[in-house]
Amino acid sequence: MPIKYIPFIPEPIEGQAVLGNFNRILKYKGADDISMTLQRGMPLYEMERQETVGENPDGNMVIRGECVSACAYLKSKGIQVDLVYIDPPFASGADYAKKVYIRRNPKVAEAIAQAERELDVDELKAFEEKMYGDVWNKEKYLNWMYENLMAIKSVMSETASIYVHLDWHIGHYVKILLDEILGEENFQREIIWDIQVLSGYKTIAPNWVRGHDTIFYYSKSENRVFNKQKQPHKQEYLDRFNKIDKDGRKYFDGRGNIVYLDEAIEKGKAVGDVWSDIMSFQQNATAAEKVDYSTQKPEALLERIIKASSNEGMIVADFFGGSGVTAAVANKLGRKFIHCDIGLNSIQTTRDRLKADGAEFDVLEIKDGVQLYRNPVQTMDKIKSLIPGLKNEDSLDSFWEGAISDSKLGTIPVYVPNLMDSSSKLLDVVLMNRIIHQAIPDLDNNIKKVIVYYVDITDEAEIRKFIAEDDSTTVEIELRDLKMILDDVIIGDYAEFHCEENTETLLGGYMLTIDKFVSDRVLSKIAEFNQKALLNSSEKKPYKPIIISDDGLELIEFISVDSTSSEGEWHSDSEIKIDKLGYVIKNGTKTKEFWNGKISCEKKPLRLKIRNICGDETVWEVCRNEE
Ligand SMILES: C[S@@+](CC[C@H](N)C(=O)[O-])C[C@H]1O[C@@H](n2cnc3c(N)ncnc32)[C@H](O)[C@@H]1O
Repeated sequence: MPIKYIPFIPEPIEGQAVLGNFNRILKYKGADDISMTLQRGMPLYEMERQETVGENPDGNMVIRGECVSACAYLKSKGIQVDLVYIDPPFASGADYAKKVYIRRNPKVAEAIAQAERELDVDELKAFEEKMYGDVWNKEKYLNWMYENLMAIKSVMSETASIYVHLDWHIGHYVKILLDEILGEENFQREIIWDIQVLSGYKTIAPNWVRGHDTIFYYSKSENRVFNKQKQPHKQEYLDRFNKIDKDGRKYFDGRGNIVYLDEAIEKGKAVGDVWSDIMSFQQNATAAEKVDYSTQKPEALLERIIKASSNEGMIVADFFGGSGVTAAVANKLGRKFIHCDIGLNSIQTTRDRLKADGAEFDVLEIKDGVQLYRNPVQTMDKIKSLIPGLKNEDSLDSFWEGAISDSKLGTIPVYVPNLMDSSSKLLDVVLMNRIIHQAIPDLDNNIKKVIVYYVDITDEAEIRKFIAEDDSTTVEIELRDLKMILDDVIIGDYAEFHCEENTETLLGGYMLTIDKFVSDRVLSKIAEFNQKALLNSSEKKPYKPIIISDDGLELIEFISVDSTSSEGEWHSDSEIKIDKLGYVIKNGTKTKEFWNGKISCEKKPLRLKIRNICGDETVWEVCRNEE
């Protein structure tokens, strides 16, 4: 339950056309719900500090939570941001997947030798895990986007700018939202990022090759930061400087207006709103900066935006941060940063990326319900099997997830919030009103009871009172907390390890050795994957199932030791990440060593954290702090 609600904008701006206008333009469904949400404000949840990396004097943040919750938090702390870049899910209908790589097992010499023979990445066993989906209908997407943009606007400083990265799927609708929220007068440019698709399936279609993304650039007011960016001139332009003066300097004579070549080169060409000089990962698939995040954008794109629309020391925020590209570039350019994302994989990828860059920051988790599931797609996939007795029921409207059969009450329709649609996560009077006045009246007359699951509830007593006072239905409504079920699914991993004084080097300290690691969650995913792959295999294309060794060390992606405290916020005093090829990244520094199953640390380890290859983290106590 939120602690309180924070108003979206400081106060309604007089004359500002908020939803009325939008309603008029698009005859937009769901506008009543969103206007109630806007009136209520942004839910403010508790924030838990998970880890501080470095001293972090600049207050940089990596936040796990929803965009709206992060904005509520920032606003409650009086923090304003100077530049926002967002690349929200595109409504492309795609499901993005994380490739999960089985690491090399340090204990199995033969496996290492074999892996070395097969150094090709594709040869390493990888399976995919759904990360987040962006399957929406337009109305839902725009409602959701409206709320997010309103939340973001409320934390933008007066001189701030925002860049919204989209494409043909929904971009033009969002442009209307942006006009509405930020004001048409604050629209600056529509940037076309030419992603230059030169080959591949996109070029096969009997049509113009689709090859650009759109980035809408708006400012909060006319008083914005803008540093003009320059790029080299094209050779055809430089070739026009073909006259030579008496000193041997090349120049161009434009009807008496003389321009010298050396000066033109030094000045460069002002960057326009069509960007064709920034390679996408489609062209540059093996770029060193790639971190295996399916929608990752290149650093050069963010570098241009951040250099143009912020100055050193300013705060740059990305509320749909993904791979952490905005935070990483902002940090490299001497800006402060705020990274927010709902996905655990994003937080881990960004944390590791920033740590490797030597950045200092806090990792924060908003208790907005999102942390209960590693990602919403997977949980939605599982939910049916988690609710006892829940089955598909074709006669029911899609509002209901299915039904439970009861010998006395007959069919009991069950409502489950769609975790991929954050707006349905919160059970409030608006949703209950819809259930009582729309969903229940549409049911068969013989339905006696419905069950409504929720992840978060505004105020349970208020909702119960609302149900009791409404006499338009005799159908019993049972409320159930989905978190109870989700909590049950979260089972920690198992590890055996031992710790001894480090005699391997003269530096001393401690050495922790991992002897065994078992992750039921990963093993069941691998079993599922093997089963599906075997079904699709043939004699011509046989499938060799993934087999995990008894000690299971190949299921480990990251290990961290905390020698500072045995509870609360995490301090990573020593850490090892094993990349997908099995090479070790020690305390952020890439090495060409394979992992040996151990981690050393200077001070006595108090806690050990292991992240498995799917991203679940489990913490164990190692030694008691005797001080
Ligand atoms: C297209 S990706 C961003 C990619 C990023 N620009 C990069 O270069 O890596 C969109 C991200 O939005 C996140 N996301 C989806 N819904 C969100 C929400 N309500 N709040 C915060 N993040 C969200 C997803 O987890 C995903 O990482």
